Amino acid sequence: MLETTFVGLPLTSPIVVGSCPATESLDAIRRAEDAGAGAVITKSMGSHPSTPFGPADRRRYRWVPRLGMLMQSSYLKEILSRDQGVELIRRASTACAIPIIASVFHPGWDGEGDFERWRSLCRAAEAAGAAAIQLDFFYLDFRKLTTAAVRDVRNRIDALVGSVRIPVVPKLSIDMDGDLIDAIAAESRAPGLVYLDSIRTEPYIDIYARGRPLYDGEQFRHGRSRTVLAGESLLPFTLSLTQRLRRRTRRDLAAGGGLATPDDIVRCLMLGAQCVHVSSFLMRRGPAQITALNERLRRFLATQGYARVADVIGISYVEREGRQHIAEAPFVDRIARFIGDRCTGCGRCEELTVCRSFRTRPYEFVGNCDGCSMCVAICPPHALELVDMGGGGAGAP
Ligand SMILES: Cc1cc2nc3c(=O)[nH]c(=O)nc-3n(C[C@H](O)[C@H](O)[C@H](O)COP(=O)(O)O)c2cc1C
Repeated sequence: MLETTFVGLPLTSPIVVGSCPATESLDAIRRAEDAGAGAVITKSMGSHPSTPFGPADRRRYRWVPRLGMLMQSSYLKEILSRDQGVELIRRASTACAIPIIASVFHPGWDGEGDFERWRSLCRAAEAAGAAAIQLDFFYLDFRKLTTAAVRDVRNRIDALVGSVRIPVVPKLSIDMDGDLIDAIAAESRAPGLVYLDSIRTEPYIDIYARGRPLYDGEQFRHGRSRTVLAGESLLPFTLSLTQRLRRRTRRDLAAGGGLATPDDIVRCLMLGAQCVHVSSFLMRRGPAQITALNERLRRFLATQGYARVADVIGISYVEREGRQHIAEAPFVDRIARFIGDRCTGCGRCEELTVCRSFRTRPYEFVGNCDGCSMCVAICPPHALELVDMGGGGAGAP
């Protein structure tokens, strides 16, 4: 029921564990597989040798509720060395039946020898048994590029795609130049795209520490770093980028960023992603959440009348003039109805400042309801409820 595919790889579930500490050891990857992950993307490996860290060289992660995972680190601390990465891919590919997608990273892009490093990492990942490769650009600066640079980045990605036999997919982020995102989506040879990477932000301040930054801004010995945000806050961007990419390409999409509920996952699938990747939520709550999400996805499909995941992928679109568009729906299709018997006169609805149609004391609809549903959400005795247009609600014809 949950089967899907991504760049030709069969997945038993659309839930892929994104590249993060939840995929940096064989034990963690095995636990993800046992919990029902469709695939994993291994923690990125770089071209650098192992870095000796001192006791003060900690990674810094802090989860802030409703905001997400705030991090400060540097690639030398965050990224596996080449030896560690190759060993992880080799052992995971041997031990696991699910696809192991290797994430590779190199801190340079257009300097002397940089392309060779990228290609060498891709070939090492392929030789170690990876089923596909993700290109991790996080520590590169692709924020503002000239037209020539956009073409050059796309050409190099294409050359990496052609350098191995397994699928190679770039990972996109909203920090990237918009023209680059569009060019990769519309014109590159990559069979699929992974997004969203975490985003760079300015420091987050702690109001209980006299407004000091959460992380003290100290420079690491091992490379520069800024505050990085993943998790909850990324979700609107993930949903938006899914639509933007789907309008430009039929390539396979692996959506991620802020995903933590079955509803969010289904929304990405309906918007055209073949699978999703989940990272910081699983770091925080553990692989058992994969089992729970799979179960809730199955229940959603069954109760909504879908036989399989494939039946929801991309269903939000209609095709017009060869392009995908979100089907138009009337904005107001449900409106509020007042059930006088239930009203206790508590007055909570009187605090609403948005409504022009519901009058209080006496409580009644005097105009067309806009269907905003705020009165429904705040009414303690449920004396206001949403009904389909024409179902007897205020303003119903
Ligand atoms: C602690 C941490 C480490 C990460 N390391 C990597 C990495 O090595 N390579 C990579 O491509 N993405 C890395 N990511 C980004 C995630 O793969 C993912 O794109 C991002 O966190 C957004 O997804 P989420 O909101 O589900 O966490 C990391 C994220 C976190 C939170």
